[in-house]
Amino acid sequence: MRRVIPWLMAGLMCALATVLTAADAMPLWAYGYSAPPAPPGGPAPAAGGTGRGGSPAPDVPKTLTGAPMSFTRAQLFNLYGPADWFPNDHPPMPEIVAKGRQDGRIFACSLCHRAHGKGQPENAPVSGLPVSYFIQTMTDFKNGVRKSSDARKVNAGLMTGFAKAMTDAEIRAAADYFGAIKWTPWVTVRETNVVPKTHIANNLFLANEDGEKEPLGRRIIEVPENNEAVETLRDPRSGFIAYVPTGSIKKGEGLVTTGGGGRTIACGLCHGPDLKGVGPVPPIAGRSPSYLVRQLYDMQTGARNAEWTQLMKPVVSKLSDDDFINIAAYVASRP
Ligand code: HEC
Ligand code: HEC
Repeated sequence: MRRVIPWLMAGLMCALATVLTAADAMPLWAYGYSAPPAPPGGPAPAAGGTGRGGSPAPDVPKTLTGAPMSFTRAQLFNLYGPADWFPNDHPPMPEIVAKGRQDGRIFACSLCHRAHGKGQPENAPVSGLPVSYFIQTMTDFKNGVRKSSDARKVNAGLMTGFAKAMTDAEIRAAADYFGAIKWTPWVTVRETNVVPKTHIANNLFLANEDGEKEPLGRRIIEVPENNEAVETLRDPRSGFIAYVPTGSIKKGEGLVTTGGGGRTIACGLCHGPDLKGVGPVPPIAGRSPSYLVRQLYDMQTGARNAEWTQLMKPVVSKLSDDDFINIAAYVASRP
């Protein structure tokens, strides 16, 4: 990887002739917020929404169609070993993925990224990643060169803590496990101008139950196909819908495949022609568009600024808010 950087960088600099405006505002929706943080000294920043759980109702065991066991909410959301409905849907999990570390410093990776590693819009898809990339990015979290542009994003901070606490063997075990799981789609991309009204819980957008609609505007709104499946049951077979603006996929295709006349660089050059990754360069096709935009923006602001991130610098430096949306809509819609 390191040897490739100099000649690639030299070639890419030529593509930076025209100067366009970079994004000037944080794409809040990609971080799971509807309002910016309060200015220093101002009122306390808005939380990412109401928390999950805390329901005073008795925690009765729940069932899921096709699953052999029933589980309570406490079991399903256990930080150190969330219940697994379908253990045969994935390879046997190493201890760190299934349970985290019992000393309390590391939650089970499967709590947020799920046992199959498809993740949720507010965290990250981790299955099918190259093992070398996985290890590198964990090292970047550990060394503080991969952070979130939004300091309110608690779970991104948690990742740094986990990476610092993990041994090399634990990182390797997690990388091998998730790396061996083939990526399959879990987010359906749908073009529209009108979306369900949403509320936010722990950085995750959820469609309101009343069915009311509102204009999408210049956002991507990614919600569970079924709120209960995610919020209550943690059903590993029920995915997400990403609403993207009408026409964005086509515009994104232009930028991704040609670089848009110097606005960016054709992604296939490094991520492979079908965007499924090459060597240590991660796959991006079919992954959560909220996650993709968060990363592109974090790289543009420098919140994510590791050694390999330097290759992405010329890619993101001139992208506007609309470019992020169009690129993510197209990339997420790829098989
Ligand atoms: C509390 C939730 C949570 C838990 C538990 C968790 N993560 Fe994460 N993880 C996140 C979030 C949030 C991000 C994305 C941060 C961002 O926005 O950049 C992330 C990102 C990642 C990424 C980056 C993926 C990529 O494509 O670059 C890797 C790798 C990862 N996590 C591995 C792990 C491992 C290994 C564990 C278990 C030790 C774990 N995570 C546990 C929340 C979590
Ligand atoms: C010159 C090579 C190169 C080009 C061109 C390139 N990328 Fe990347 N990309 C990388 C590398 C290397 C990484 C890993 C960066 C890191 O580890 O911080 C990466 C990481 C990413 C990530 C983060 C993935 C994750 O799992 O967190 C996204 C998203 C991404 N690229 C999107 C794009 C898009 C979209 C384009 C085209 C508009 C593009 N890249 C063009 C080399 C490239």
